[in-house]
Amino acid sequence: MSTASPVSLVTGGNRGIGRETARQLAGLGHAVLLSARRPEDAERAVADLAPGVPGTLLPCRLDVTDADDIHAIARRVEEEFGRLDVLVNNAAINYDTSQRAVSADLHEVRHTLETNLFGAWRTAQAFLPLLRRSPHPRVVNVSSESGSLELMSGGAPAYGVSKAALNALTRKLADELRAERILVNAVCPGWIATDMGGPGGDPVDQGVAGIVWAATLPDSGPTGGFFRKGEPLAW
Ligand SMILES: NC(=O)c1ccc[n+]([C@@H]2O[C@H](COP(=O)([O-])OP(=O)(O)OC[C@H]3O[C@@H](n4cnc5c(N)ncnc54)[C@H](OP(=O)(O)O)[C@@H]3O)[C@@H](O)[C@H]2O)c1
Repeated sequence: MSTASPVSLVTGGNRGIGRETARQLAGLGHAVLLSARRPEDAERAVADLAPGVPGTLLPCRLDVTDADDIHAIARRVEEEFGRLDVLVNNAAINYDTSQRAVSADLHEVRHTLETNLFGAWRTAQAFLPLLRRSPHPRVVNVSSESGSLELMSGGAPAYGVSKAALNALTRKLADELRAERILVNAVCPGWIATDMGGPGGDPVDQGVAGIVWAATLPDSGPTGGFFRKGEPLAW
């Protein structure tokens, strides 16, 4: 299959912000690879969402800590579409609000970085050849105000450090890819009522609006930025 529609990949697309991002991108007519660690979770999400959207939703298994998974999906995207237009690095774990940096279990911190930082990093590396074939390539790293050095306080050490590192990665990739016109931005969705965010946050569609904004920027749009709701956020 090849398509004139934009082709997007969302990691952690089976629930929460990732699922809604996949739904909204498919709502714009994208062909969206909705990926999840467990194939049955991806298939269930696609079965739930597909009837209501004009675009195509394709389930796939992708654990961002597993390089073999990532390369298998990259091969599939190459065979089916020949390019990738939008990569949304959404998958993340461990909002460790009960922990403190002074006493954090460093095995847990390392495990968190493996998903929240290296997962996004290895996915971006693996898909770069396909992003380079896109006429309008976009990478969105779903970050958090918890990763803002300017606003940083104590607590949630693994999560906060992982998101600060993801922000740094965003700047590095954006700068290195600027000449190739690949726009790379970090987006904080705000406090959103998901399994991770817990009750009390904004509805998930509101948080996702800023992610979709970054995923669909015009060629004149920013790169190397940190945004919430399309507005710059302090690094
Ligand atoms: N909710 C908020 O208030 C908030 C605020 C700021 C930033 N964020 C960010 O927004 C993003 C989504 O958060 P959320 O609230 O939707 O979280 P969530 O409800 O906990 O969902 C996390 C998603 O990531 C997936 N995931 C975890 N580890 C993975 C791995 N190794 N490979 C592939 N997928 C993996 C999960 O899959 P499983 O179902 O298999 O576990 C799930 O689909 C995250 O980057 C988070 O840091 C959220």
